[in-house]
Amino acid sequence: MRKLTPELLDHLPHDDPGAMRSRSDLRRINRFMGNEGWITSVIPKRANHITEIGAGDGHLISKLSQQRPEVEITAYDLAPRPAHLPDSVKWIEGDLFSHAHPSHGGTLIANLFLHHFTDTQLETLGEWMRNFKTVIINEPLRSRLPMLLGKIAAPFVHPITRHDMRVSIEAGFAPGELAKTLKFEKQGFKFREMTDWRGAIRVLASRV
Ligand SMILES: C[S@@+](CC[C@H](N)C(=O)[O-])C[C@H]1O[C@@H](n2cnc3c(N)ncnc32)[C@H](O)[C@@H]1O
Repeated sequence: MRKLTPELLDHLPHDDPGAMRSRSDLRRINRFMGNEGWITSVIPKRANHITEIGAGDGHLISKLSQQRPEVEITAYDLAPRPAHLPDSVKWIEGDLFSHAHPSHGGTLIANLFLHHFTDTQLETLGEWMRNFKTVIINEPLRSRLPMLLGKIAAPFVHPITRHDMRVSIEAGFAPGELAKTLKFEKQGFKFREMTDWRGAIRVLASRV
């Protein structure tokens, strides 16, 4: 069963030195897990609007805006707009749940974000996604091997990351849980799910 414990990074000021170190660890974790590579590889070629929820330090959307300058990009996060972000990217700061669901559609990305929320909140988020044509999700896989990999990595990361890595895996997802909680079938999404031994569970959903 999922266990939700608050993550330290979510409650620290954006410019706290520990939070900055932990965000840099997160970039290394994303690289090790191959998360951004997978996400980039499944974004439809014809996408004309890409939205990322829980965009963090904006690393992925910065890269996407360079790779696809013709595509409109919108990002949501509690954190303020990252300084390095190209002007063309629209950044919406604040609690995602306080923003109405977007009507523009296109492709939605959630990377290491959905595990923050209870099943009830995820049901609301599933509704929030209703206008998107494609939804790309990458989350922690809740199983023994990722927990072991986290323990091996522990001495090499900041204590904030060490804590958040463990609670993220405990709040992560087992096969079948994501699409079921988000009610993708009811919403008319066709989806496939895959896992990666490095600790990811991935769902690629598109409207039939
Ligand atoms: C684990 S980080 C992942 C960031 C980024 N996707 C990455 O992989 O580096 C989760 C992000 O979700 C954001 N977040 C958490 N709760 C949120 C909420 N209710 N609304 C918007 N953003 C939220 C946090 O500020 C944080 O940047």
